[in-house]
Amino acid sequence: MGAPLFSPLTLRGLTIPNRVVVGPMCQYSAVNGDASDWHLMHLGQYAKSGAGLVITESAHVEPIGRITHGCLGLYSDANEEALGRVVDFCHTHGTAKLGVQLSHAGRKGSTRLPWEGRAAPLDAEGWDTVGASGQPRAEGWPRPAPLDNAGMDRVRRAHVDAVTRAARIGFDLVELVMAHGYLLHEFLSPLSNHRTDTHGGDLNNRMRFPLSVFTAMRAAWPKDKPFGVRVSATDWVDGGWTPDNTIVLANALKKLGCDYVAVSTGGLSLDQKIALGEGHQISFAARIRKAAGLPVMAMGMIEDPLHANRIIDDGDADMVALARAMLSDPHWPWRAAAALGEDVNYPSQYLRGYRSKWLRERRATPSQ
Ligand SMILES: Cc1cc2nc3c(=O)[nH]c(=O)nc-3n(C[C@H](O)[C@H](O)[C@H](O)COP(=O)(O)O)c2cc1C
Repeated sequence: MGAPLFSPLTLRGLTIPNRVVVGPMCQYSAVNGDASDWHLMHLGQYAKSGAGLVITESAHVEPIGRITHGCLGLYSDANEEALGRVVDFCHTHGTAKLGVQLSHAGRKGSTRLPWEGRAAPLDAEGWDTVGASGQPRAEGWPRPAPLDNAGMDRVRRAHVDAVTRAARIGFDLVELVMAHGYLLHEFLSPLSNHRTDTHGGDLNNRMRFPLSVFTAMRAAWPKDKPFGVRVSATDWVDGGWTPDNTIVLANALKKLGCDYVAVSTGGLSLDQKIALGEGHQISFAARIRKAAGLPVMAMGMIEDPLHANRIIDDGDADMVALARAMLSDPHWPWRAAAALGEDVNYPSQYLRGYRSKWLRERRATPSQ
């Protein structure tokens, strides 16, 4: 039997050739939300990396829903055309399936580029942000305007428009962000949701808007294509969002037609105390998978191919997403395949550099 990491996975009508996912990574290199040549290169290299699935960085559903001025958008015709060019490029030259991550930054928007001062709010060129409630992210951060009913309708519609654009330009999969302290997570967590209407208070109320966004988007996304949701399984703060809450959310999403949950943690509160370490989020993924009976994507400090394979083999997750390991080693799947005695897709142009094949050829002709 082959290595589970390199076995295919079918979600609805999509068969992903293996379980290695290149996770979403903001590049802050878009102009007015338009993908640039940087995105062609960045995503193009991963499309041919041997990974089964590549997920774009967050594409934001409206201009004020961006994190920075350099963030990707999918709210205009120009955004759609620019990202469509990247999708075509990756599908033509690579073998990975392509997913788009859609998000609204909420009160974490209007931020400087990380290399201009990590997670600092913009001053002069900033914009007014919106949130679940009026509390800023932290002291010194702009106060978001709490979304009223008309605002929630607008934001829901923006999500639907974005997923319609994503379908039109041929993405294979979509992932909606309810994680990392961004808008939908702000509704979910009692630390950031202080509303007194039907969208605040108990868990059902706090889930109401995020679930309504999901439902509207799912209806606009092709039935034969998978739709996942990224969650933060815990805020890592006492009194915050918990793994038990996440299981309730995952069960509700499953009923509404969600195909997988991508399990991250944190990002909402600066008071978070994260227990960091190799694969530190995997136990959350495994719990959600078991309790909700839904495929899960595990992530966070996964680097060793044998570890990644074990995560799938042990039934802790259905996919593993790598981010930083893929930045430092863009052909990580080749290395993993060699370590596990497997084959992955690789371009003919790179045949002579493909290590496991090279090793096999050497073994077959020992005199060389
Ligand atoms: C440069 C960079 C940008 C990121 N951007 C996003 C993003 O757009 N959306 C998201 O959900 N996670 C984002 N993440 C988080 C990663 O997808 C991943 O979950 C996290 O880095 C942990 O995995 P790792 O240890 O393999 O890097 C980003 C991470 C990095 C390093």
